[in-house]
Amino acid sequence: MDLYQVIGRRRDVRAEFTGHPVDDEVLHRVLAAAHAAPSVGLSQPWDFVLVRDPATRKAFQEHVAGERDVFAAGLSRQQAETFGRIKIEGILESTLSIVVTYDPQRGSPAVLGRHAIADAGLYSVCLAIQNLWLAATAEGLGVGWVSFYREEFLSGLLGIPAPIRPVAWLCVGPVSQTHSTPDLERHGWRKRLPLSDVLHDERFGQSCGIRLPG
Ligand SMILES: Cc1cc2nc3c(=O)[nH]c(=O)nc-3n(C[C@H](O)[C@H](O)[C@H](O)COP(=O)(O)O)c2cc1C
Repeated sequence: MDLYQVIGRRRDVRAEFTGHPVDDEVLHRVLAAAHAAPSVGLSQPWDFVLVRDPATRKAFQEHVAGERDVFAAGLSRQQAETFGRIKIEGILESTLSIVVTYDPQRGSPAVLGRHAIADAGLYSVCLAIQNLWLAATAEGLGVGWVSFYREEFLSGLLGIPAPIRPVAWLCVGPVSQTHSTPDLERHGWRKRLPLSDVLHDERFGQSCGIRLPG
């Protein structure tokens, strides 16, 4: 697959994990791809915690179920009905989980490029996650990002010391199939926007003159 094919094929996976093993060499390539991401001031502020222990995953899954209820409680009746059909995690079904963290102290205090935008550190971690996601897709693996959790809970569960913050719980593993349409779109939660809706010309809010196919 070339890069555009990988980008097009990448999906957030919840229901299709098979639980089959992942070869260590493949896992190493995927993690090396994540670690090759750009980072503000070359701070590389990420760490990756590989979680395989069923007890840890079960404890996290129960916490996520609670947070799912918290979110559902704030929805309209119609939204709640749609949300009820959507699976939001594959924590127990996937082969392993990778928790990605952000360390704001790495390379500090003089992080080149972060003096005015503290979030640039977090942006860097997200780029590592995207590299991981694309590399996993190229390897035929699925990834599902779970964010239905409280940071304090996950830090306590995995012993992540402050000020390091968990940024993502990623479910990872082989999948039975990959859908061409995102789950949220398939279930009628929300549709993807066309590119033309988010393009601006010169100033924000001015429609863009470039001709787009389709
Ligand atoms: C920061 C972030 C957090 C997300 N959290 C969740 C989540 O908790 N549960 C879930 O099912 N999907 C989660 N997703 C996946 C999105 O729902 C998904 O990316 C989006 O619907 C588009 O689908 P696609 O990734 O298959 O293209 C998350 C994605 C991102 C980028």
